Amino acid sequence: MSRKGKTQNHLANKIELRPGENIGNNSAENDDEFLFSCFVDHPALSVVADITSSKHFVSARTGAGKTAILRMISKNNTNVSEVDLLELSLSYVANSDIIQFLSSIGVDLDLFFQVLWKHIFCIEYIRSRFSVTDANKSRSLFRRILDTFESDDRRKSALKYLAEWENKFFITMDENIKEVTQKIEKQVDTNLSVDLEKFKSKAGYARSLSQEKKSALVARAKKIVDSDLLADLGKVMDLLSTFDKEEKYKKQNHYILIDGIDEKWVDETIRYKLIRALIESLRSFRKIQNLKIIVAIRADVLERVIQETDFSGAQREKYDDYFLRVKWNKDQMFDLVNKRINFLFRKKYSSENVYYSDIFDPKVGSVDSFSYILDRTLYRPRDIISYLNICLKLCEGKSKVSQTVIRKAEEEYSRIRLQALVEEWNTALPYLQFVFSAIRSRGNAFQESDFFDHTFIDEIVLSVAQENYEPRDPVSKLSRSSLTHGNEIPYEDMSKQIISDLYRIGVIGLKTNVNQSFIFSHKDIATVLPATISKDTKIRFHQMTRIGLNLSNVKS
Ligand SMILES: Nc1ncnc2c1ncn2[C@@H]1O[C@H](COP(=O)(O)OP(=O)(O)OP(=O)(O)O)[C@@H](O)[C@H]1O
Ligand SMILES: [Mg+2]
Repeated sequence: MSRKGKTQNHLANKIELRPGENIGNNSAENDDEFLFSCFVDHPALSVVADITSSKHFVSARTGAGKTAILRMISKNNTNVSEVDLLELSLSYVANSDIIQFLSSIGVDLDLFFQVLWKHIFCIEYIRSRFSVTDANKSRSLFRRILDTFESDDRRKSALKYLAEWENKFFITMDENIKEVTQKIEKQVDTNLSVDLEKFKSKAGYARSLSQEKKSALVARAKKIVDSDLLADLGKVMDLLSTFDKEEKYKKQNHYILIDGIDEKWVDETIRYKLIRALIESLRSFRKIQNLKIIVAIRADVLERVIQETDFSGAQREKYDDYFLRVKWNKDQMFDLVNKRINFLFRKKYSSENVYYSDIFDPKVGSVDSFSYILDRTLYRPRDIISYLNICLKLCEGKSKVSQTVIRKAEEEYSRIRLQALVEEWNTALPYLQFVFSAIRSRGNAFQESDFFDHTFIDEIVLSVAQENYEPRDPVSKLSRSSLTHGNEIPYEDMSKQIISDLYRIGVIGLKTNVNQSFIFSHKDIATVLPATISKDTKIRFHQMTRIGLNLSNVKS
């Protein structure tokens, strides 16, 4: 490890931990002081910020530092547009009668959504790259573009596309969304007005249509939605890229950053489709060489997009090049902790360096104390910041964090972690809370064979049946169908699925083969398929869950 603190007795004497002392807020949005002063130069930052790399998506679980990376890019560069999804009029799209009509007759809106994203990013790039601030500048830029390409026949469609926006290159992304949607709406309205009226006035109209009529409508609607807009936008990007090279302007990198995609920025009915279209459309932006669009996406949201949209294995692989997964190792986590402790104490107490080992007892029992803490995290900055902050809180008035405190802090930490896991996976695995309750109620009497015990499964099935959420994951679906349709409970399948899910989220480690050691999803492979799990599979609970699940005496 890079930085070993020296024990400085004189220093320890000077230190008295004051109330409210902490090593930062656990969300990068509210952590300015520590984040920027104690930034750990994780290699993910330079890869993502590299304008030539294909990594457009920073993907990781909650608390791994996605926002931190985006904020650092924003701080280090001048030409950055940060997209606030909550401020975009995407609800306008979701609520549009016409879009709902198209969706109800079965038009795949994926291409329209791609048009939407591509359009807003192209215009945003033009605005930022050429500093277009008003209609006059917009028109004069368009003139320059026209002068450059007018004689080139291959540029015709791109020029025609841009001509429609010639005095609007400065408008906000939000206005752009409305404009594009209205444009499509107008065309649908003109071409399919009779059916549209019927749709608006008659509930269930789409369902009452014959298959033939529906297909004819879909074909006509598709012509409008797909039209040639996508192809045109591709040509617009080509044009921009050439124009950019010929421009006398100083070359600078431009970034468009998108965070908060996991929040409720638009109704669920279209959110996952919009994300899917975003993933698809970003690939083509590589054409514009000094623009990079970067999206932070939580691993569970990505899972959900895969669940919800038709994202087959082959297609997934195609996208792998675009995703950068942020992983932390022990040295990097130690660095993060030391930087933060040092920053806190130098600011408050002395000009001397103060590191982890100046403040924390070296051992918990026979284990190195930092390893003890780290073993109770999923190797994510948020976990360790949270653990250490609880330790500091429990040490008010003292100068050291003793091993007793580290153990005491674990109680609160473990409970907070389990609650956070339930929240993190609430959309993908809503049944998780019931598994936790079932384990917790058995507490120290719990054995790994209980996962295959019928009473254990019955308890979960009953709890799921009493809730009225939309079942999406296999366990919830099986539970619901057993109780509502009287299907027999497929006990073994459910046990395996639960074990597989718990592995995926980091609650348990598995040993599927006697010759192997235990594996955990945050360090080893991300998933273990239910089919590879059997009653002989060995299970070990992650240390972070043991107190929260009342398992502190279960052998680990
Ligand atoms: N490279 C880093 N250097 C220093 N601190 C970091 C770094 N990365 C993350 N952190 C800190 O870790 C905490 C969690 O990071 P952040 O909020 O960026 O996670 P996230 O991946 O965006 O999570 P979520 O999915 O919940 O939004 C924050 O306190 C942040 O300041
Ligand atoms: Mg974040």
